[in-house]
Amino acid sequence: MSDQLLFQPSAAAVARTHINAAQYAELYERSIKDPDGFWAEQAKRLDWISFPTKIKNTTYEYPNVSIKWYEDGVLNVSANCLDRHLATRGDQTAIVWEGDVPGTDDKVTYRQLHERVCRFANVLKANGVKKGDRVTIYMPMVIDTAVAMLACARIGAVHSVIFGGFSPDSIAGRVNDCGSKIILTADEGRRGGKTIALKKNVDEALAKVEGVERVIVVKVTGNPVNMQAGRDVWYEEEAAKVDADCPPEPMNAEDPLFILYTSGSTGKPKGVLHTTGGYLVYGSLTHQLSFDYQDGEVFWCTADVGWITGHTYIVYGPLANGATTLMFEGIPSYPDASRLWQVVEKHKVNIFHTAPTAIRALMGAGSEFADKHDMPTLRLLGTVGEPINPEAWLWYHKHVGKERCEIVDAWWQTETGGHMIAPFPGAIPTKPGSATKPFFGVQPAVLSPEGKLQEQTKAEGVLVIKDSWPGQMRSVYGDHERFVETYFSQYKGYYFTGDGCRRDEDGYYWITGRVDDVLNVSGHRLGTAEVESALVAHPKVSEAAVVGFPHDIKGQGIYCYVTLMAGEPSSDDLRAELRNWVRKEIGPIASPDFIQWAPGLPKTRSGKIMRRILRKVAENDFGALGDTSTLADPAVVDDLIANRQNKP
Ligand code: WT7
Repeated sequence: MSDQLLFQPSAAAVARTHINAAQYAELYERSIKDPDGFWAEQAKRLDWISFPTKIKNTTYEYPNVSIKWYEDGVLNVSANCLDRHLATRGDQTAIVWEGDVPGTDDKVTYRQLHERVCRFANVLKANGVKKGDRVTIYMPMVIDTAVAMLACARIGAVHSVIFGGFSPDSIAGRVNDCGSKIILTADEGRRGGKTIALKKNVDEALAKVEGVERVIVVKVTGNPVNMQAGRDVWYEEEAAKVDADCPPEPMNAEDPLFILYTSGSTGKPKGVLHTTGGYLVYGSLTHQLSFDYQDGEVFWCTADVGWITGHTYIVYGPLANGATTLMFEGIPSYPDASRLWQVVEKHKVNIFHTAPTAIRALMGAGSEFADKHDMPTLRLLGTVGEPINPEAWLWYHKHVGKERCEIVDAWWQTETGGHMIAPFPGAIPTKPGSATKPFFGVQPAVLSPEGKLQEQTKAEGVLVIKDSWPGQMRSVYGDHERFVETYFSQYKGYYFTGDGCRRDEDGYYWITGRVDDVLNVSGHRLGTAEVESALVAHPKVSEAAVVGFPHDIKGQGIYCYVTLMAGEPSSDDLRAELRNWVRKEIGPIASPDFIQWAPGLPKTRSGKIMRRILRKVAENDFGALGDTSTLADPAVVDDLIANRQNKP
């Protein structure tokens, strides 16, 4: 059905666009045939201290994978996001902040932001931070968080932002992994009318980590928190001791800019490493072209800065382009389901960008909340993070976009740094549910699961990318071998995305979801292995297997099969206890939807759990269990079916 729906770009979008259909085709071809020429040209969008003479130097050849862009270029990211705008747009608003509590807001101009970043950078220096040091940032959605990120970039420190929803244990693991000696946090965060005990979480995390010498605390709610003498200091007091003069550190294009932890199919989260030049060229170019950003517009991405979307499309992309970017502390449902639309009207937002899970939740709350708001300034809507079902796309188009706004469904990943497949508004007709066509320099390919290249246009299989683009991650922090094994070993010569996809007869890409053991719960990425290891860490649990299942709002939900220690009685209380346990171990985003007691798990004779069967049971699809004859004990399947959970 949805294959047939095709939306042509509106006349307004065609009239306005930076890139029309013919230019897209021509530039795309050039970007593939002559990557050096194309990306040298694009690099001119930034201010370089020394313009690169070497552009692309990359190989996907296993096991010698190496990715370098602009390798002899020198620049500073914060200077590109701030200093270079001062002469032309110093008094323009850089960041609009809207608080969790309706009626609270703030804004900073480029000049003010520049000053705050310089001061914060001097506080970092005064507290011993040097070029190359890792700085952990565990902060809420306030302007100071963007300031902190840019301050790191200014002095060449590498930030690792941790989403405020992660638990003390998760913080501890990430701080340990990158060996950061300093943590930036706040007393508390605010979200949906509640407070989040950020400093308290840091204190608990630090009970498990050695080597952290300094915690700098920004005052957000002003509620009292514990301050450990000799270790913890208030940002405000430190800031009073320094001036706001801080020249930007010249950085090589391949110097690390940040680490961002993300879940994989095995083991602990990996530190995705992004570097300086390629990331900023790619992030700013995609921000400008996929949203067709025009000077003076107000751009709002509802993501948290703790995710890659926040890094690239709240902070770095928009600020490099001299845009006005909106930062929202709250959530879509608080105080009610009209909150986002009030903010759009209040701040005259032109481009709005959110995730399918939010769209589905708002659709479920009733169209009247969006219908009450005309939102005349809106002209483009983005969706990102998970596949969007055509129903939600059409609802978004009608009730939020009033059938007048372009919709940009952008497929990408923490690893890719910026958009990879997305419609150029004004150039590419859209189909609800399809991310459409690749960005410049991106060469998607479809392989059969066994690795055979599908050359015909209409194809289905796993999604890989043939060659490097400037925004690509460079390594897993501290573990290059893991980088090579995870992304380049299964399908030799390609970057493996972990996603499945379909390419239709028009060459449009439709992402069908992860093909590995990674879950996408409300747009948040989680490894089934992470949830399993949290469960088995509980003293009453002997074994656990975790799978995803289709969830109306979240996209995917978390279904857990748990085998208890011998003699341990099961109960609803224990279910609640395990749910809380997982929340404590990982964070509230990993909260299990279902826990089923499983006296036995379906294993092959060699002891391997057959997840395919667990997935089918969780999906309530018993007809398609497939061959169960290789199971050590086929009878466990009957027990699993008989005890399937259909309420939490
Ligand atoms: C995974 C990456 C960078 C965006 C935020 C999530 C899924 C992302 C789409 C889309 C279908 C999508 C993929 C991908 N995904 N965008 N437009 N359509 N699926 O970043 O946490 O690194 O997750 O999100 O499965 O692999 P992430």
